[in-house]
Amino acid sequence: MAFPNTRMRRLRATAPLRGLVRETELRASQLVLPLFVAETQPPSGRDREPIESMPGVARLSLSAAVAEAQDAAALGLAGVMLFGIPAEKDEQGSGAWDDEGAVQLAVRAIKQAVGGLLVMTDVCLCEYTSHGHCGVLRSDNTVDNDASVELLARTAVSHARAGADLVAPSDMMDGRVGAIREELDGEGFAETPILAYSAKFASAFYGPFRDAADSTPAFGDRRGYQMDPANGREAVREALLDVQEGADMVMVKPALAYGDLIRAVAEATKMPVAAYNVSGEYAMVKAAAAAGYVDERATVLEILTSLRRAGADTIITYHAKDAARWLAEQT
Ligand code: PBG
Repeated sequence: MAFPNTRMRRLRATAPLRGLVRETELRASQLVLPLFVAETQPPSGRDREPIESMPGVARLSLSAAVAEAQDAAALGLAGVMLFGIPAEKDEQGSGAWDDEGAVQLAVRAIKQAVGGLLVMTDVCLCEYTSHGHCGVLRSDNTVDNDASVELLARTAVSHARAGADLVAPSDMMDGRVGAIREELDGEGFAETPILAYSAKFASAFYGPFRDAADSTPAFGDRRGYQMDPANGREAVREALLDVQEGADMVMVKPALAYGDLIRAVAEATKMPVAAYNVSGEYAMVKAAAAAGYVDERATVLEILTSLRRAGADTIITYHAKDAARWLAEQT
C-alpha cells in the first residue's frame, strides 16, 4: 500500500513515537576509550601531554591513566584500550613485552584502583620499534611475519600476566591470533579473550594516532601487512581466518568509511564485532566542530549510532566519555 494509505511521517510525529520504532540503540556500555600511557613523565613534567592533532586527548602519566579509567568506569563505559609509549625504542620492539613497561604497569594500577571496567590492551610492536613497523625486519627491510608473531605472542602473555582482561592484536601479521591463543593457553591464561583487529586497513585515518604514539614508519608504509582499502571480500576472509585461529571477537578498522564491511563481517562470522572509530575520524569531527561547521554532539552521536546500525556490537572511540555524558543527559 502506497500513499495516501501509507504515510511514513505518522510514526515520526512525536518523540515517543520515534522512540517506539527506533531500531538501533547506543549505550555507554558498548563504548571503549583508548588511552595513551607514557612510560616516563613528559619533559614538561605534566601529567597530561596534549596531542595536538587530537584535541581533548593526551599522553598520560600512570596516575593520569588511572584517573581516566576511574572516569570511564563512573560514566559506565565498557572499558579502556591501552597503548604504551615507551621511554626507548629498539629494532625488536622489546619494550612491548617488558613486564615493567608502560602498558603492564598501567594494567596493574588500573585493575587495582578501578572495579567494573574492562582493561584491554593493544598488542603491537610499532610503538616500540625504532623503525616504527608493526613487526621485526629482515636484512632487506621487509617485515618478517613468523619472527614477529613470536614476539607478539610474548607481548600478549606479558599483558595477561599484568592482569589484562582482554588482548587485542593490531599488527596484521598472519597467524598471530593462533599463536597468541596457544601461548596464552600454555601460560595459564586460557580464559583471556582475544579481540582480533581482523580487517585493519592501511589507512590515512591513522595519522593523528601516529603523532600520539610516535609510530610513523621511518621508511616505507604499512601496505605490506595492513589491508588495501579497496578490498571487501578479503576483509571477510581475514575475519574468518581469525575466528578459525581462536579469536573471540573481530574488528573492522577504521570504522566510518567501512560500514559495509562491519555488516559483511558480522554476517559472515556471526561473531561479536568491534569497530574502531580511529584518530583521524575523531580529528575531523573535532576540527569541523571547532570551526563551527558541524554540531559536535549531534555529529558524534550520529556517527556512533551509524556504526551500531552497521552491525558493530562494540565501538572503540576517543569520543567515548563525551558520548556517555550526552547519552546520560538524553534519558
Ligand atoms: C598499532 C595501532 C594503530 C592504531 C591502533 N593500533 C596505528 C597503525 O596501525 O598505524 C590506530 C588507531 C587510531 O588511528 O586511532 N598498530
